[in-house]
Amino acid sequence: MAPSITNSKCVLVTGATSGIGRALALAIAALPSHPKVIGVGRRKDRLAGLKESGLDIEEFDVNADKDGMKAFVERVVGKYPEIDTLVLAAGVQREVHFKKEIDIDAIATEMHVNYFSILTMISFFMPHLLKTAASGQPCLIAPVTSGLAYIPAPWIANYSASKAALHSLCSSLRVQLEDSNIGVVEISPPLVESELHDAEGTTEALSKFWMPLDEYTKQTIEGLQKGDDVVASGMAKNAYEKFEQPKEEMIREMGRRAATHSK
Ligand SMILES: NC(=O)c1ccc[n+]([C@@H]2O[C@H](COP(=O)([O-])OP(=O)(O)OC[C@H]3O[C@@H](n4cnc5c(N)ncnc54)[C@H](OP(=O)(O)O)[C@@H]3O)[C@@H](O)[C@H]2O)c1
Repeated sequence: MAPSITNSKCVLVTGATSGIGRALALAIAALPSHPKVIGVGRRKDRLAGLKESGLDIEEFDVNADKDGMKAFVERVVGKYPEIDTLVLAAGVQREVHFKKEIDIDAIATEMHVNYFSILTMISFFMPHLLKTAASGQPCLIAPVTSGLAYIPAPWIANYSASKAALHSLCSSLRVQLEDSNIGVVEISPPLVESELHDAEGTTEALSKFWMPLDEYTKQTIEGLQKGDDVVASGMAKNAYEKFEQPKEEMIREMGRRAATHSK
């Protein structure tokens, strides 16, 4: 079990300018525990809207290099030394058709935003989170994956691969951080109402099938309050329970063996 979000005092949310990240940021800020919420994104008008709703805001492009990411983390930790929770929802989605021309730069950016920037951000936050957790304040790292991490959608092949990588990272990180008072919660949405599919022009077709954002947000906040290690809904929940949950004990066992060898 992870620490409940109700223990969080200061929550940084990436992808807070629209869709799932925005809805979670606002719902977390409205919890009875009233944590401070810092919304992160690129679009200034959307950030201004969050500020009007009472959130703190930080403009940042997560498609940054290592030095840019390090400077961002140092800046926000300096400004908000009470940060104990990361909700990492920034993400992009692009179609890839291998029988047509492939835009390798777009694929690299998608992998960077959806996977490597999250790994880098977590790595640079880690000394701060370890110190915070050691002082007795529970911490949470909550990356947003996808049901497509478990069953890839072939037309968004690289997106699915980036989410599979992020899911794998969550499972390993959770084992590495056992006994540290830092919980790793994988938030795994099914198809949900958002702007994610606007870039591909598939929003209208998908809107006939997606889970309404309000319903999704309610379910996810309940999971975060309970302290579930994986907060999955709909198809993502079914696929996680069928294909991935059975592996989690084996991953923990591998972690225990590695810990024994390294003693
Ligand atoms: N909606 C779904 O069906 C679904 C299903 C499974 C998983 N997910 C995942 O849920 C997460 C949220 O997606 P969503 O559906 O809510 O999509 P969305 O409405 O398009 O929101 C994406 C968010 O990511 C931010 N973002 C994208 N690139 C960024 C960059 N380079 N730097 C900083 N922020 C960036 C955007 O902010 P700015 O443009 O302001 O920077 C925006 O706030 C994503 O990780 C997505 O993969 C979504």
